[in-house]
Amino acid sequence: MSLSQLARSICESPTLKLNETAALLRDKGEPVIHLGGGEPKNKAPIDAIVSCSSLLQTGDVKYTPADGLLSLKKAIIHYTEEHYNRLVAPENVIVSAGAKQSIMVLLHAILDPKEEVIFPVPYWVSFPEMVKIAGGVPVTVAARDGGFEPTVEEMAEAVGPYTKAIILNSPNNPSGAVYSEAFVAGVVELCEKRDLYLIMDDTYNRLIFDGRTPTNCYRFTDGRLIDNSRLVVINCVSKMYAMTGFRIGWAVASKDIVRAMTNIQSQETSGPAAPSQWAAAGALNGVQSTIESLRLTLENNRNVMMTRLAAFDGVKVVKPGGTFYCFPDFSAYEKDSQKLCRLLLDKVRVVTVPGREFGMEGHLRLSYCGTIKEIIEGIDRIKWALDPGAPNELFLGDRKLVRDWR
Ligand SMILES: Cc1ncc(COP(=O)(O)O)c(C=O)c1O
Repeated sequence: MSLSQLARSICESPTLKLNETAALLRDKGEPVIHLGGGEPKNKAPIDAIVSCSSLLQTGDVKYTPADGLLSLKKAIIHYTEEHYNRLVAPENVIVSAGAKQSIMVLLHAILDPKEEVIFPVPYWVSFPEMVKIAGGVPVTVAARDGGFEPTVEEMAEAVGPYTKAIILNSPNNPSGAVYSEAFVAGVVELCEKRDLYLIMDDTYNRLIFDGRTPTNCYRFTDGRLIDNSRLVVINCVSKMYAMTGFRIGWAVASKDIVRAMTNIQSQETSGPAAPSQWAAAGALNGVQSTIESLRLTLENNRNVMMTRLAAFDGVKVVKPGGTFYCFPDFSAYEKDSQKLCRLLLDKVRVVTVPGREFGMEGHLRLSYCGTIKEIIEGIDRIKWALDPGAPNELFLGDRKLVRDWR
């Protein structure tokens, strides 16, 4: 079979692959605990379902404009005004099939071959592959202090003649870190000075803990109008409303950028599915308490996971400030994160995601978007698998496991 160089250079999404593996094992009746998940467990808000059903009941489900329905754009404009204190026009908004498509179409719209896109380590697994698909070159910046937030100077050192854009994702997948205001402000200033695009991936912006408020990147701009700006803000209904399957995300940017993205999207996919857009508009215009109840649940889950992880002598973990992920360092037990991930799946049927996929070896990404029971049992099983001081036997349902590898 003859495949393109591009196809051969792109890796499969490791997180989607793990979901499949977990589902296959579950189908076989294996007692799998999925700490690798990337979506909240709760259902979509009722306002989303009612709005979506009202369209479906008409049976009149047709193409929408390539950049999304005006009614949804109006809801997004309201969201942007409320949460970013920025009044934008419908021409500043493009709706896509998930935040993923918004980012992908944007990269296609701004990158010429071999131009570079910079992002901090650890990063969302898809960033490097998306940049490559758009013909660009991913450039990663690891903090010299080994932490989850590089300095602005470290970011600036990575900027060169081919740099076109910087991506920041805060709260961050996989670390859960919320970047400091000083860091975001510094990167906004750096991008404005060097005429770079800044892509703020705010997918987890509302899922933030400990009384903190999300960082509004517009606060740090030099006052230029949105149509003269290279700042692009990405959002979606996927995580905050637990609507991953609806596939609706959006970008807010200058009219020129949105027009270019729309042209590309119109040729690639046309507008996103109409029922999903109706559902997203329903969620954005509806009762907002579901976000707060999800946020509170996740904060509690995070606390439970932190308490359980504290019982590991060798594990170093930084308390996440948002998302539903944490990114502990397990290198005291095993430096090769893929090997460790495989061992945990094979021996105790716990799904985790290797840190290597996010650019940080020795770590595992653990999700706390499941139930408290799953978190407690998952961490207990990991502890049993790794801690030589743990009793030799463990029961998974009625199956007795005997630890013969440590
Ligand atoms: C940082 C980040 N951005 C974007 C996305 C994609 O969101 P969507 O499902 O809306 O495409 C994800 C999904 O995991 C993510 O973690």
